[in-house]
Order: sequence, then structure tokens, then C-alpha cells
Amino acid sequence: MKTLTITRPDDWHTHVRNGAILKTVLPHTAAQFARAIIMPNLKPPVITVAQALNYREEILSALPKDANFTPLMTLYLTAATTVEDIKAAADCEHVHAFKLYPAGATTNSDAGVANIATIYPLLAAMEKYELPLLLHGEVTDETCDIFDRERVFIERHLTAITRDFPNLRVVLEHVTTSEAVQFVESAGENVAATITPQHLLFNRNAILAGGIRPHYYCLPILKREQHRLALVKAATSGNAKFFLGTDTAPHLTHTKENACGCAGCYSAFAAIELYAEAFEQVNALDKLEGFASFYGADFYRLPRNTDTITLEKQTWTIPSAYGDITPLKAGEDLSWKLINS
Ligand code: DOR
Ligand code: ZN
Repeated sequence: MKTLTITRPDDWHTHVRNGAILKTVLPHTAAQFARAIIMPNLKPPVITVAQALNYREEILSALPKDANFTPLMTLYLTAATTVEDIKAAADCEHVHAFKLYPAGATTNSDAGVANIATIYPLLAAMEKYELPLLLHGEVTDETCDIFDRERVFIERHLTAITRDFPNLRVVLEHVTTSEAVQFVESAGENVAATITPQHLLFNRNAILAGGIRPHYYCLPILKREQHRLALVKAATSGNAKFFLGTDTAPHLTHTKENACGCAGCYSAFAAIELYAEAFEQVNALDKLEGFASFYGADFYRLPRNTDTITLEKQTWTIPSAYGDITPLKAGEDLSWKLINS
């Protein structure tokens, strides 16, 4: 039986929500990953250190008894965030970054930033206190085609941010385009990107060809095949600027199978297996460990994990649901399975 053992990975972009959904999804993330960057787009959003610490406690108390998992908290940037908030976050060992959602860009982003120019003093403080800025990199301009929103964000905003704050550590989250890959490759060492399993495995036909498939709808939306190929090349290149971030984003099935369905793919139940599938398709399984287990930790200046996980080559069928959540690739086969963790 073919197996693959790698250093235990971390997930550098995770939505675990709160309340009942948290209890369903957290065991999946904790079974695979040692640590995860926890997104702050709750209702209401996680804005202060005190809120992040409360949320952290809720996550810790929802963990299975035998779990060995550390949530890495983030704060949600708003127009009301102050330089003092940035300093307080930098002084808190449990807060690892700020997340910038352009207002209206995605799920629970209404409290996000409407005008990036207004938060320049905050970006200066993040640069000074060495806290990474995590970006949902899409413009919200309604006249901008949804398939162009990431590219236009780079042109209109990211180029200026990286020019004006050359030492700010920036993660362009869930990159979806060849333009994003090129931008990150040519930017300074302090600019990196996460890549999701769905953007490595699927192009936009998965959502739209032969019928609308809402469980493949996420933001930024899946793009053309040429972009998927650029992402696969970046993820499997061994370039430490690209690392694992699932953007696993659970929504109740009825809110996705809806006249106005929510954005987000649920992948935590088999995240590393989904990545293994994508890497194997281009004969690059030897590059999975760096992408999944080393480069993100290095970027966040955290120690690499020292224990391992093992995957086995084994075909299994993804269930149609986990509780009230429909997983990515529901009912379809996967060819790798986590066997010890
Ligand atoms: O598809 C997405 N879902 N993209 C995001 O940026 C947010 C996420 C969510 O929270 O559901
Ligand atoms: Zn996300």
C-alpha cells in the first residue's frame, strides 16, 4: 500500500465559525492540522483583542478531548480600528494578524474597510509592530466583472500598499489568478499568498457547466483553466511564498442551495487529501510538505511542527453531508486518506 508521511501541516486560512457549526467543523481541522489561522468574520466580527481571546476560549472548549491543536487568532480591520488596537494585538501572543475585508466583498464583510486610503495609519502601525496584513484581494466595485475583481484589486490597491509599506508582511489570501501569482512572485520577500484546494482542483466550469453547482461557489470565484494551471505551478514550485490556506468556509446546505447562495467551500474534512490529489496530478507530491508544513510557519515566524501525519493511497467516497453542511466534492471519490494523525 502506497503511503505518504509528511511533517504535520498547518492551515493558514480557516473559517470555523462559532456556535453549533464550530462543533461540527473544528474536529475536522484539528484532526489534520497542528495550527490554523482563524478568520474573524463572525457576526459580529472579531475586532478587539478581548473578543479574540473570548473566541479563542470558545474554540478551545469545542475541541475533542484528545486534540492537540492551537488556534491562531486574527482581528478584523474596520474604519474604527485604532493604532492602539494594533499595538494591543502585537502585544498579545495569541493574535497573529489583521484581516482586511473590503466592505461588501464577501461573507460578513459589511463592517470591512470602504476606503483603503483611510487605513494607511493602521498599515503603518502594522508595519512598525510587525503584524501581518491578510488581504481579501478583490475590489467591490459593482461595475467590475466578478472574474476581474482580484486582478483589479492588485492594480488599484495592492501595488500601492506594497510600494508604500515595503516592510509590511502581506498575505494575499486565496489567490485565484495568474496575475496574482506573478504579482507575489515579483514582490518582496515579505509578500506571500495562500492557495485553496478548490482553486487547485477546479476551474469555473465546475460551478457553471451543465447546471449550477452552488457548493463550488466561493469568493474569489473559480477562474478559467489557464489560471488554475498557474496556481498549480506556483503551489508545486517549491517557492516559499506560496503556502497552504484552505479557506474552508462552512455554510448550512440550505443557505448555499438558495436563490442567493452563500460563498464558501467546505474542505476541512479532507483538506490535506484534496491537496495531495492536486499535487499528485502533476507528479509533485514531493513538494507537498514544504507547501503544507514549512513555508507558512516560516512566514509567520513560528516553529515548524515536529510530528508527522501519514496518508494512504486508498479510494474512498466523500459523504453527501457532515451534519447540515455539504462538503466539497460531496459523493465523489478521493484517492488519498489520512490514516494516522
Ligand atoms: O467563499 C468565501 N467564503 N470567501 C470568503 O472570502 C469568505 C468565506 C466565508 O466566510 O464564508
Ligand atoms: Zn476566507
